[in-house]
Amino acid sequence: MKFARRLDAVPPYLFAELERKIEERELAGIDVISLGIGDPDLPTPTAVIEAMAEAIRDPATHQYPSNRGTAAFREAVAGFYAERFGVAIDPETEVIPVLGGKEGVAHVALATLDPGDTALAPDPGYPPYTSGPLFSGAKVHYLPLAEENGFLPDLESAPEGRLLFVNYPNNPTGATVEVDFFEHVVAFGRDRGLIVVHDNAYSEITFDGYTAPSFLQAEGAKDVGVEIFSLSKGWNMTGWRAGWIAGNAEIVERYRHLKTNLDSGMFDAVQRAAIAALTEARGFPREMSQIYQRRRDLVAEGLRAIGLEVEPPRATPYFWARVPEGHTSASFAELVLERANVVISPGGAYGPHGEGFVRISLTVGDDRLEEAVDRIAALRSVAQGETGRLGRPVISDGRAGGARTS
Ligand SMILES: Cc1ncc(COP(=O)(O)O)c(C=O)c1O
Repeated sequence: MKFARRLDAVPPYLFAELERKIEERELAGIDVISLGIGDPDLPTPTAVIEAMAEAIRDPATHQYPSNRGTAAFREAVAGFYAERFGVAIDPETEVIPVLGGKEGVAHVALATLDPGDTALAPDPGYPPYTSGPLFSGAKVHYLPLAEENGFLPDLESAPEGRLLFVNYPNNPTGATVEVDFFEHVVAFGRDRGLIVVHDNAYSEITFDGYTAPSFLQAEGAKDVGVEIFSLSKGWNMTGWRAGWIAGNAEIVERYRHLKTNLDSGMFDAVQRAAIAALTEARGFPREMSQIYQRRRDLVAEGLRAIGLEVEPPRATPYFWARVPEGHTSASFAELVLERANVVISPGGAYGPHGEGFVRISLTVGDDRLEEAVDRIAALRSVAQGETGRLGRPVISDGRAGGARTS
């Protein structure tokens, strides 16, 4: 059979080998703790579930939705932006639902890029910043997120391009910014004639009193770009596929045009559930943040107790940690899986500059997390005693050595 070459252009799935090993262990009855994927372990808020239950009993939700989204959904998003970020969104023209942030990231590339164009994408970064442009026939130029630069891109050294992806609070580094960084991005986008897409998947999961800004708070942001927002992480709704694109009306319209040819929009019942998330369950992400903060501290404490230097992140349910000397991301992730039966993500899976790091996800219960930390602690002494391979590890979340804002 002959298939489209565009799929071959996408880098191989680096977790595949890890997944095979996990499955092998689980089949052998071994208890594997996965700190690999960032998929919240706790349920969706009750108000959202109840809104959904009621909505699906209403036959008015059973027909094709509109790609534009219902007026009530768009107004709820506008209300959320006004209240949370102090940003005015025109519900008529400046917002459209997406079936999760991932769909938004992949398809915004298809709506904005021509073959031969260049997309500028963070490295390390969320993999669809690469696959979306590649599927559009465009090239991807990686902007390294260096630890010494607070995991911010050095925009000035970037080549010409058509689309710029940014993402703060950042996956996988956990780095955060203030509005001045977004102002810098807007000025840069305007100078270079770039479309800016800010992927805001994590602004509601923050710690230590930090409040994450929206890209749209930066003056002129709507002139150059859009923000993709997701309900997945803040409201434990990864399975629901609910988010939106907000900002520049022309991009929103082009996106709608594309979507009318690809899918038929978001199930009206899910839109009603999303409205409940933004209104009745508005405070829920704060509760989740408290839970993740406690887990973050638990991991930090455990790692410090075994002699690692850790600076906890101020946002996202992830630790971005340097691997011990003498290891690659993959060899360390493999060692932790083989000896401790704990899954962590190798940083290299997020791009070339992720090499030398691993990502530890906080999306398992406290007791499992404690158990995982204990197992890793035991592994360190075993490995040092047997082979000395772990060396003298230094773990950092990326706050060390650089400003978080521009
Ligand atoms: C940076 C980033 N963007 C977008 C997403 C997509 O989330 P969803 O498609 O569930 O909204 C994720 C999920 O992990 C992410 O980490």
